[in-house]
Amino acid sequence: MTTSPTILTGMRVNSEMTLGNFLGALLPMVRLANTHSSDSHVNIFVPDLHSIIDTVDGELRQNLVKSLKYYLAAGLEINQNVHFYRQSRVPAHSELCWILNCVATMGELNRMTQYKDKSEGKESVGVGIFDYPVLMAADILLYDAVYIPVGEDQFQHIELTRRLAERFNHRFGETFVIPAKPEDQIKFMQVGDGIRIRDLQNPEKKMSKSNHAENSKIMLSDAPSVAAKKIMSATTDSVGKIQYDMFNQPGISNLLQIEALVNNMPLQDVISTWSGEARYGDLKQKVASSVQTFLENFQSHLAEISDEQIFDLLATGETYANKVANIKLHAVQTAFHLR
Ligand code: TYM
Repeated sequence: MTTSPTILTGMRVNSEMTLGNFLGALLPMVRLANTHSSDSHVNIFVPDLHSIIDTVDGELRQNLVKSLKYYLAAGLEINQNVHFYRQSRVPAHSELCWILNCVATMGELNRMTQYKDKSEGKESVGVGIFDYPVLMAADILLYDAVYIPVGEDQFQHIELTRRLAERFNHRFGETFVIPAKPEDQIKFMQVGDGIRIRDLQNPEKKMSKSNHAENSKIMLSDAPSVAAKKIMSATTDSVGKIQYDMFNQPGISNLLQIEALVNNMPLQDVISTWSGEARYGDLKQKVASSVQTFLENFQSHLAEISDEQIFDLLATGETYANKVANIKLHAVQTAFHLR
């Protein structure tokens, strides 16, 4: 019996995952899932249709399996309430996306930061990039999901999902559960202000897999010693005092945040330990060693998980997801007089 709201998240699989994806979204999801899956459905899906918006990757199928292994390697406990599925294997996602396209406006999609960033300076931009948030809304609304653990960069899409659901309910009758507001998502995730792991070389920006500079990001597949070196070469500042201040000292603050997350410690405790210290080198050494140990453990767990385990989970998860999603899709089609 599940009595609490559904928790849902997805992660694209175009390439390897960064430490930013892992700490910002995957790890909080694993911790939430382990805490709540006794009385909440926990849906973990691969948005593989979102993965093909800009590139078609021959490795997609293999990366998809790997990305689901990451959850297990990070300690996700499986029970009958935890569901793994691929977006492309649940056709209701695409169908609801189309219907929501008839509810969303060009103006609101034009305002999405991710769309603006990805289309900036390009002569030709795929419609898939523009429509990305509508498919994301469908992913969420099909399952009555309330809590969507994602990094801070995705909050604008959660806001849009809420708006589309409210507009739909208002025009066509109560059909969708409205997801929690970003501030309530943060409270639920217990991650301070929302997590945005920064680019190691340019901490004004988020760590991103699309940045080609190797030293700017840590990949989960990096050799642990290489990852440690990247931390040692991270850009800091010239203030000369360790303080948690993302605005004025984003490089140092990023290191404090990484230190807390990889050790599963409250950020406040890490801040108290280091605040006021002057030697940035000592902090870097400590974070480098924490990241190295974290990656060693993670990679050895990962090697123990088989492809078969993942395909078994997908088989049961996709049966469940199709059942739940089709019930909602039918309600939507009825509201639209399509049935
Ligand atoms: P994706 O694959 O672009 O990002 C996956 C998750 O990683 C988070 N993230 C970060 N968090 C902290 N610091 C960073 N530097 C960083 N970089 C990425 C993202 O916020 C995200 O949570 N649109 C989603 C995929 C998706 C989805 C959904 C999620 C599609 N449909 C429905 C939830 C519900 C995305 O950004 O994936």
